[in-house]
Parts: sequence; C-alpha cells; structure tokens
Amino acid sequence: MKVLVIGSGGREHALCWRLARSPSVRALYACPGNPGMAAVATCLEAGGTTPEDFLHAAESVDADLTVVGPEAPLVAGIADCFRAAGRLLVGPSRQAARLEGSKIFAKQFMRRAGIPTAAFRVAANEAEAREALKHFGVPVVLKADGLAAGKGVVVARTRQQAEQAAADLLSGRLVGPAGSQLVVEECLEGEEASFIVLTDGRRVLAFECTQDHKPVNDGDTGPNTGGMGAYCDGRILSAPQREQVLERIILPAIRTMEAEGTLFTGFLYAGLMLTAEGPMVLEFNVRMGDPEAQPLMHTLEGDLAAALASAARGALDESALRWNGRPSVCVVLASEGYPGTPRVGLPISGIERAEGKGAVVFHAGTRRRNGELVTAGGRVLGVTASAADLPGAIDRAYAAVREIHFEGMHYRRDIARKGLKRW
Ligand code: AMP
Ligand code: GLY
Repeated sequence: MKVLVIGSGGREHALCWRLARSPSVRALYACPGNPGMAAVATCLEAGGTTPEDFLHAAESVDADLTVVGPEAPLVAGIADCFRAAGRLLVGPSRQAARLEGSKIFAKQFMRRAGIPTAAFRVAANEAEAREALKHFGVPVVLKADGLAAGKGVVVARTRQQAEQAAADLLSGRLVGPAGSQLVVEECLEGEEASFIVLTDGRRVLAFECTQDHKPVNDGDTGPNTGGMGAYCDGRILSAPQREQVLERIILPAIRTMEAEGTLFTGFLYAGLMLTAEGPMVLEFNVRMGDPEAQPLMHTLEGDLAAALASAARGALDESALRWNGRPSVCVVLASEGYPGTPRVGLPISGIERAEGKGAVVFHAGTRRRNGELVTAGGRVLGVTASAADLPGAIDRAYAAVREIHFEGMHYRRDIARKGLKRW
C-alpha cells in the first residue's frame, strides 16, 4: 500500500513512525510533514489546506490510503471530498466530525445517546449566559462552541470570572467566531483520561488508555497547552472501568451515530473525567490525540496500515493491533514563550544521544535551516520511551530528555507521576 499521512506535528510523526513498520506499507508519504517524518516518509508540499489541496497531494502519488492527523481538515469535509473522488481515507465525514467541531452538537448528541456527561446549557449572548449561570454553582465551565485549538475552555472559580469569560468568549476576543455560542456546564471532579478507539462505524478496536498533561507547569498549574506530555499505561483504568467506558460511552456513541445516519469511521477519542459516579465525557475528538499518539504508537504491535485500511473500507479487523503491555511515556519539550508566542529558529542538539538512551524523539515543531535542525513552533519534540513498568519508562524518558538542548527549552518534570500510585 502507498500511504499518505496529513499533518506536520508530533502525532503525525508518531503515526508515520509506526506506519513505516507496517508490513503492508510499500511507500509512505506525508503532507506537509516535518524533518522527523522526512526520515521515514517522502514529504509532499501542500498547495494549501483545503480538502481539495490534500486530494491533489494524494492523487499526485496515487495514495491507496490517506490518514488524517489534525481535526481541521476533517471538520472541513476532507473525508467527503476523498470519498467523492473514490480515494480511501480513514476519518469521519464532515457531518460526523461535528462531534468535535461543535461542542453544542456534541453535548446534545450525548444527551440523545444517554452518554454520561456534565449537565449543561447553551448561550448565544450575555443575557442567556447570565441566565444559564444561575443554574450552576462555582466552579463552572464555559466552552466556545467551535474549534479553538484547546483555548476555548474556561474553568471559572467565581460567578464574576464566569460572567467575564462569557463576555470574552461571546465578543470574539478570546477565540474569534468559535465563541459566538457557548456551552455552560457543571464542573466535574476527578482524574482525566483519554480513551481512543479505531472504528469502521460498527466495530471498535480500543487502544490502551492514556493520560495527557494540559497545563504548562508541574502539578497541573499555569495556562493550558496543547499537551505537555502523555503516557500510556494499562493501569489507568481498571478492567470494570474499561468495560464501562466501552458499554456506556463508546458503543452508544457509535450506535447513535449510525442510527442517525452519520456513520462514524476513523479514530474516536473520548476525553474522560473519572468521577466518583463513573467515567464521564468532557469532550469528543474525531482523531488521534496529540501527544497521546506518541506513547500509543510507540508501544503498538501489528500492521497499523492494514488496520486503518480495514476501518476505512468498513470491515474493521479488530485483531489487527495489539498493545505490547509496556507503559510508555512522552515528555514534550517546548519553546520559550509557549503556550504564548514561542521563540523559534533556535538550533537543537542531542537528539541522537537521546535516542542512544533508548528513546524515540518525535518531531513536532522543527525545521531544517541550511541543513541544521532548528525550532519552529511551541511544542518542539516529544521524547518517548517505554519500559517493563511505569517508573522505568519515566526514568528512561527523562534520561533521554537530559541529552537534548535548545535555548529557552522547558518541559514538565512530572509527566506520568499521577500514574505511580497505581504501581
Ligand atoms: P475540553 O477541550 O472540553 O476537553 O476541555 C479542556 C479541559 O478543560 C479539560 O481537559 C479539562 O481539564 C477541563 N474541563 C472541561 N470540561 C470540564 C468539566 N465539565 N469539568 C471540569 N473540567 C473540565
Ligand atoms: N491531547 C489532547 C488532544 O489531542 O486533544
């Protein structure tokens, strides 16, 4: 198979790295890719970022299968565009991608499907927001309806903060037009987890559970980021919890999508809060997680391309992939300034030494300048390592991190620490 991966971040490098090890892959392409992906795939220039631009890229190499990393092309209808052109792509249609593209759609969908989630109300202006807030105590959560790259959620500690956040979101100051409508919801308590499955719309292949670290600083403090690290560990969920997630969340979601005529194919990602009343959904995403993909791809066994193609064809081979049972930890190395405006263009050293310590270094925001590798984004690298147990995986990942340097580099020192209580 000739396989094309769309995207240019750490998640896409991890997908490429695993696909390069797939027996059924004859040629691997990335569009637009990054220097890390270029080591395992041929990078294609993107003429733009519309579904048609990506279709042209797929046609230029006659790709047999296209895998989409980020949400934006899916929400824009890339799956419909490829399907109309008769080209195989793994990912949901534009209609099905509303599960991520509209928080209001997602919440109303969960209500219809009976999926456990926080109580909520919708508001389209400040008066409606004030009215909605009367139904909740504090803390309370406000969410922009549209795609906001993780910046559209505010957990307000006081009523005044909540009203201010509503005004900032609705006016477009915080996230632009994505905030023109809001979800106001109950604040849930517990540990968060990411549960991701591959589905053909009827059958599911569940990946091992992962945990992301969104706040920029140790101890979950500071502003939210796209994710400062993630780990994959079979102990995050007990066997009964895993069963609950499948039976009460994933299967009802997939069956309700099918019943409503919007068959969901591709990766379905449930962002969970593990509350005292059981797992509840904070959000759905319609793609692999970033950085969750890095530890997941690192420890996956089997033919990923064959599994993805079977899902895209509507005949998922549920036994195509296995987890090797080894916990895996990914530490993100970020640029000075991130999650604000990052400083970029700084030389990066030590990747080979880090890989010599048994880690895999996934590129997220890098580029080549006259042959030299330099920083090119907020999240620069994802240093990923696994071991027989979680403490060993953490030690190995951080030993590798210590080999890497760029000016202003920062990272969290406590990735996966929450998981240690389960060992
Ligand atoms: P989301 O993009 O919906 O996952 O929200 C981003 C982050 O906000 C989540 O990872 C949580 O940390 C937090 N969050 C979202 N919804 C809630 C909620 N209902 N209760 C508590 N925290 C939440
Ligand atoms: N790691 C969070 C996300 O991919 O949305």
